Amino acid sequence: MLKLKSLGHACFTLTTPQHSIIFDPWLAENPDAVCSPDEIEVDAILTSHGHSDHLGDAVAISKRLQVPIIAPFELAMYCTRLGCETAPMHIGGGRAFDFGHVKLTMATHGSAVITDDLIEYTGPPCGFLVTMDDATIYYAGDTGLFGDMELIGEMADLAAAILPIGDNFTMGPEDAIRAAEMLQADVVVPMHYSAFEIIKQDAVAFARSLDDIGIACTVLNPGEELEI
Ligand code: NI
Ligand code: MN
Repeated sequence: MLKLKSLGHACFTLTTPQHSIIFDPWLAENPDAVCSPDEIEVDAILTSHGHSDHLGDAVAISKRLQVPIIAPFELAMYCTRLGCETAPMHIGGGRAFDFGHVKLTMATHGSAVITDDLIEYTGPPCGFLVTMDDATIYYAGDTGLFGDMELIGEMADLAAAILPIGDNFTMGPEDAIRAAEMLQADVVVPMHYSAFEIIKQDAVAFARSLDDIGIACTVLNPGEELEI
């Protein structure tokens, strides 16, 4: 049995009785976060791209716990340079870890670490297919809609799909509905729709729209979890 917990924005943990991983751990600066990075206990950190609302506190958590950051190669190298243990991967590639299997999927978005005087490119962004305890979940990352979601849905029997719905930087609700139709996951969990004014969406209305076409959707407010 898997537990998917929202920690706010695009940050989720996925936990089995033995293992726990975290996606895109933006916590310290996240207005929606329900815990601090110091409270996180995980086996690995999966980061989809270099934007600050995703890379977030990954480096600090990785160093404190001595656990790897799993990321696209360029982003992993950036974290290696900062002294983190990393597991560099790339889109289309899969690898078995102690906690389960990870495969990187494409995401149509950007990826860079941006500071006041520098934009440092961190490779293409990604999504993740993660299999733990025989259940596979799709974490789309920040992405626009793309037709190969159909292929992802065909190739994996998805227990859950975590999709951005915030519009402006990623898919909005309408495109996320198209994504959900292609992916055919047992349940859709929306993300990336409330931390900034410009991405605010009505997740409950989104869930209702999916329900109308026979697709299950669970809205997880920060701190809430879903058994998969
Ligand atoms: Ni982004
Ligand atoms: Mn983002």
